[in-house]
Amino acid sequence: TMSQSSPLLNVLVTGGAGYVGSHVIYSLQKTRRYKIIAIDNHHNSTPQSLERVSALSRSELPADASPRDIETTEIDSHACDLTRRDDIRAVFEKYGKGGIWGVIHIAAYKAVGESQEIPLAYYENNVVATLYLLQVMADFDCKRIVYSSSATVYGNPPIVPIPETTRLKADSPYGKTKVMCEQILEDLCVSDSNWSVISLRYFNPAGAHPSGIIGENPKGRPANLLPLLAHMAAGRVDASTLKVFGDDYPTPDGSCVRDFIHISDLAAGHLLALEALTSDKIFDGVYRYKAYNLGQGRGTSVFEIIEAMRKTTGFDFKYEVIARRRGDVGDHVADPALAEKELGFKANQDPVIMCRDLWNFQSKNPNGYEN
Ligand code: WQD
Repeated sequence: TMSQSSPLLNVLVTGGAGYVGSHVIYSLQKTRRYKIIAIDNHHNSTPQSLERVSALSRSELPADASPRDIETTEIDSHACDLTRRDDIRAVFEKYGKGGIWGVIHIAAYKAVGESQEIPLAYYENNVVATLYLLQVMADFDCKRIVYSSSATVYGNPPIVPIPETTRLKADSPYGKTKVMCEQILEDLCVSDSNWSVISLRYFNPAGAHPSGIIGENPKGRPANLLPLLAHMAAGRVDASTLKVFGDDYPTPDGSCVRDFIHISDLAAGHLLALEALTSDKIFDGVYRYKAYNLGQGRGTSVFEIIEAMRKTTGFDFKYEVIARRRGDVGDHVADPALAEKELGFKANQDPVIMCRDLWNFQSKNPNGYEN
């Protein structure tokens, strides 16, 4: 068929070794249409995840796989930092002008609290790095990009479920870097109609590939609720330190409500966005920039998540309710209608499946990737 004989498209994934990056690479590899180039500085990841993604993809190949199919499971991995423009340039040099078809730019610092402590590091690593990447892409005539944004760009939103038309008003330096990068990308598209850009605003990614071969592997105490609960149930983090940040929100049980999205669904959204970059339908005809929510459109409270993890793990979580955490909002749920209509995106897997797959990964990898 056409797809088996047409040349592989070279796609660069930044942050490829991370939690989101590894699952995105797996989704692309499954199509057997892409050759993956990965960049990562391993600030919050290890190159072992890429070896595992490749092994997982290879294990799904038929015995009579062609050399072309085998190539789709291999990763051209580069340990480098996007704040070093010459290092990015060297990766593009290897493929030459027009050699890289598109970029999925996931690499970033992502901890809200930390961004309040060290804002300059966030502006450099998230904004300056993105500028350098875009400059090099322009030089090599690579003008297609899927950008990892965040639901945090909405801050405390006036309407929930949150539509993409909501004004952007991030509260933390981290959130502001995401707003700034979206604005830079849109300005770039306005200036040059050869650019096609899709920003994906993630709600709360969770879970792991059901094989338990790849998953989230945070360094140190996890900052996010679900991996924290998994680490506590596994005995990696002292379970007596569990705190719930506020139970006086105007929500059904008083705790915060979040829109958790299975990492496999989130990854599938990146593939759909990558394919949509060449679409003639989704852009407004003047310039080619769009942003989409990636969420389930379904809210789950902090208490419900703790209960779901209790059922999954059998671990009896004890927690103390303390004051609200600065910057948290009560209700943060996506309106996923636009991504469904224009990308054909639908996140089907519910939080019970996320907990199951998270715990499966945790159980099979008690010490993460560092076994
Ligand atoms: C979830 C809920 C906490 C820990 C963050 C970023 C967001 C995005 C995803 C990147 C909240 C509560 C948590 C704990 C608790 N990241 N909680 N005790 O804040 O919804 O989203 O990660 O783009 O931008 O803001 O995720 O996992 O930190 O918290 O009660 O020990 O769990 O208050 O309501 P959050 P989270």
